[in-house]
Amino acid sequence: MISLNNKHILLGVSGSIAAYKSAELVRCFKGAGAEVRVVLTKGGAEFVTPLTFQALSGNPVSTELLDTEAEAAMGHIELARWADAVIVAPASANVIARLAQGRADDLLSALCLATAAPIAIAPAMNQHMWANAATRENLRQLSTRGIVQFGPGDGDQACGDVGPGRMLEAGQLARLTAAIFDTGSLAGCTVLITAGPTQEAIDPVRYLSNRSSGKMGYAIAQAAVEAGAKVTLVSGPTALRAPPRVERIDVRSAQHMRDAVMQHIADSDIFIGAAAVADYRPVHIAGQKIKKTEDMLTLELQRNPDILADVAALKNGPFTVGFAAETENLEQHARGKLQRKKLDMIAANWVGENTAFERDDNALLVITANDKQQLATTSKSVLGRQLIELISKHYHGGA
Ligand code: CTP
Repeated sequence: MISLNNKHILLGVSGSIAAYKSAELVRCFKGAGAEVRVVLTKGGAEFVTPLTFQALSGNPVSTELLDTEAEAAMGHIELARWADAVIVAPASANVIARLAQGRADDLLSALCLATAAPIAIAPAMNQHMWANAATRENLRQLSTRGIVQFGPGDGDQACGDVGPGRMLEAGQLARLTAAIFDTGSLAGCTVLITAGPTQEAIDPVRYLSNRSSGKMGYAIAQAAVEAGAKVTLVSGPTALRAPPRVERIDVRSAQHMRDAVMQHIADSDIFIGAAAVADYRPVHIAGQKIKKTEDMLTLELQRNPDILADVAALKNGPFTVGFAAETENLEQHARGKLQRKKLDMIAANWVGENTAFERDDNALLVITANDKQQLATTSKSVLGRQLIELISKHYHGGA
């Protein structure tokens, strides 16, 4: 049983008789738990109607790059960010040539240029077109750019030929798509992650907290599990469901979070502090609800333990990754925290109005002692996977 639980799959359907198999592919993706959006090229729409894909996917089908209505609903950049993977099936010889050239004059090619998500193509064409040197050269180029190729298979072709060029069956394509996410790069590792905000009690009904949604930490947890790690997620209060196969420990305050982390840290190879831990907590927690009897109320606060710094200071501690949320001087502040807290890696992002917190997308500047990588704005799930791949590279000593 394959799983594409909660994955956003963008299916590009181009002009080939194999397009009829893509209708079944949508059902396989959905059956495996994915949400599917379909982009039809002009050629694709000659073979199967948008209505078929709309009914099967449960989502509107996009066909045009410059369509004011479609752009208002979910524009091409938004679609590119929404996708966890872009699967072009069938990929005609024409679409393969267009992708190789980096064209952006129709919706599907523009999306493939704009997305940070992995792209896979499932070629479908006549065996002579498949064998043609132009097609071979285009495929070679796509492969050097990291575009994955599914198939094609061998056999009877719609034109009467027999040979290579048949698009793989829907079930095979769905299995190969699921394998994109299961990278195995952290196989055998144990990863401990903190996520979400903390709540620092003032009285039995009130607390101090922040706007962290937990989405980034949860996306990292999911990516780590898919990379083969055993993952424990110590989570402050959020509205999110734990990703499958992740052990979640619920906590409220920074002190609870620290206790849970320290209980599990000895077994961890990697620690990722993605939580927005409150730096201060009230010195006294009122036993009863505080009444508004005074004009002025002063809360006395004391520093919380710095969980990340405490983990990084452990002897023989894990590979330690921190986050830095900044409103100014992003790189400078992040480097300061990397050194001060003696971290192995820090992931920095801008915060403030309309950035990071509560949103589904984000961008990260990832810094280590000898490396700096900018991960451009994309969905938090794609970003989570990119971050996990970077962590795995540095953890295994490859960078
Ligand atoms: N962190 C932690 N425990 C705390 C505070 C922060 O583990 N008590 C971790 C966060 O999970 C994050 C990183 O530290 O990985 C954030 O660093 P921090 O210096 O606390 O950020 P700010 O609070 O923004 O710091 P400053 O006020 O210095 O900007």
